[in-house]
Amino acid sequence: MAFSKNFLWGGAVAAHQFEGGWQAGGKGVSIADVMTAGANGVPREITDGVIPGKNYPNHEAIDFYDRYKDDVKLFAELGLKCFRTSIAWSRIFPQGDEALPNEAGLAFYDKLFDELLKYHIQPVITLSHFEMPYHLVKAYGGWRNRKLIDFFTHYAEVVFKRYKDKVTYWMTFNEINNQTSGMNDWSLFTNSGLQIQPGENAELLMYRASHHELVASALAVQIGHRINPNFMIGSMFSTGPVYPASPDPKDTMKAQRLMQANCWYADVQCKGKYPAWLKHYFAVKNYDIGITLADEDILKAGTVDYIGFSYYASHVVKAAADEPADYMTPGRDIEVKNPTLSRSDWGWEIDPIGLRVTLNWFSQRFDLPLFIVENGLGAFDRLDGDRIHDGYRIDYLKKHIEQMALAVNEDGVDLLGYTPWGIIDLVSAGTGQMDKRYGLIYVDKNDAGKGSLKRLKKDSFYWYQNLIRHNGNQLTENTFKTHP
Ligand code: BG6
Repeated sequence: MAFSKNFLWGGAVAAHQFEGGWQAGGKGVSIADVMTAGANGVPREITDGVIPGKNYPNHEAIDFYDRYKDDVKLFAELGLKCFRTSIAWSRIFPQGDEALPNEAGLAFYDKLFDELLKYHIQPVITLSHFEMPYHLVKAYGGWRNRKLIDFFTHYAEVVFKRYKDKVTYWMTFNEINNQTSGMNDWSLFTNSGLQIQPGENAELLMYRASHHELVASALAVQIGHRINPNFMIGSMFSTGPVYPASPDPKDTMKAQRLMQANCWYADVQCKGKYPAWLKHYFAVKNYDIGITLADEDILKAGTVDYIGFSYYASHVVKAAADEPADYMTPGRDIEVKNPTLSRSDWGWEIDPIGLRVTLNWFSQRFDLPLFIVENGLGAFDRLDGDRIHDGYRIDYLKKHIEQMALAVNEDGVDLLGYTPWGIIDLVSAGTGQMDKRYGLIYVDKNDAGKGSLKRLKKDSFYWYQNLIRHNGNQLTENTFKTHP
């Protein structure tokens, strides 16, 4: 196995899930700040503003805001070449619609990026990761409103200029596509700040909001390249193959349609235009998305430099007995358990080969480098003294990295790097839990928000450290080293 010597081994997080300091340095309330803790199978509540007495896990998260120096030191010890995080938009523009940025917020990321660079760790930065300023939801209705394009591009321009010599790799919107594939209250709110009122057409609003984001993303790409032509500005999709449940061609048609619905954003961000099937769908549904000729030019001129994506699981679907002819009607998907795969504690199917399938899927369609910016196992960890023997996480990572290596070496996939999700335990986006742990570094805090916040290195920490040291070339021989 051979990864290039510049391969970006890293780790990934998002500002709202680990920083805490939700009001520090003049930060405004973000949409993540009005989401309570849920549980496995219990959705998070989206409250009308911050209500005293409710449990909002993102407010403190793991207090990285105050502990960033010690944590970055641990990332350096781990050997990370890059670190993916996001900028909390509401630290820079607390309300989102101000003319001038908040200097204290900008200064925080200066300090963080300097600290990373001190250890030769490249920051990889997402501009919007489920944490837009809440004011933009209340005053403008979130991304349903075209004005958001101006607010976002202004924010992008400010941070591009400020960090132009510190950051090379950027992404515009995290998992921009999961609002289509899993259209529900949570995904509409976290992706686009949409709150659907009775009588409104959620699907239409979702497509409009997505369009505004895509235009904003394409403009940001152009602005970024003007500021620093060396910037690499990517997209970020949530992915995983959709397999048909049986050889019945109807199931194949269903699986194909779900992949289209999941990945049409890639056509727009990588090729600069809407796919024909979707334009047809808009026409059939009589959906006025508000795509102007000027928008089409912007999309064409603002295609991304690379494809960032998250990969956790694959899915199996079957067509309904009375499946509509377009195979598109939302909410009709019948998901089936894959009998060949095991599942995580949260029921996510574990499919390492699916990662290779996904890498090939992208590579065959778009002539762009790929970057796996999230992958990992959310699991319960058990403390054994001050040790965490997370062999299951090592096994997960190892099997996925093996498939990644095959994609590079056997299939010729152009892969820039790999940043496993939640390199340090953090608040789950979906459930708001702490006990759904992805980290290689343990954080002493539980679902009830109790704990010392102390950091401990898990067995997987030492395993990944060794893997990076050998540039991924020693997956099987002697790499399962636990605590020295
Ligand atoms: C991705 C998100 O959907 O998956 C992350 O980009 C999220 O923000 C991760 O945390 C894992 O999901 P969850 O719900 O287990 O936190």
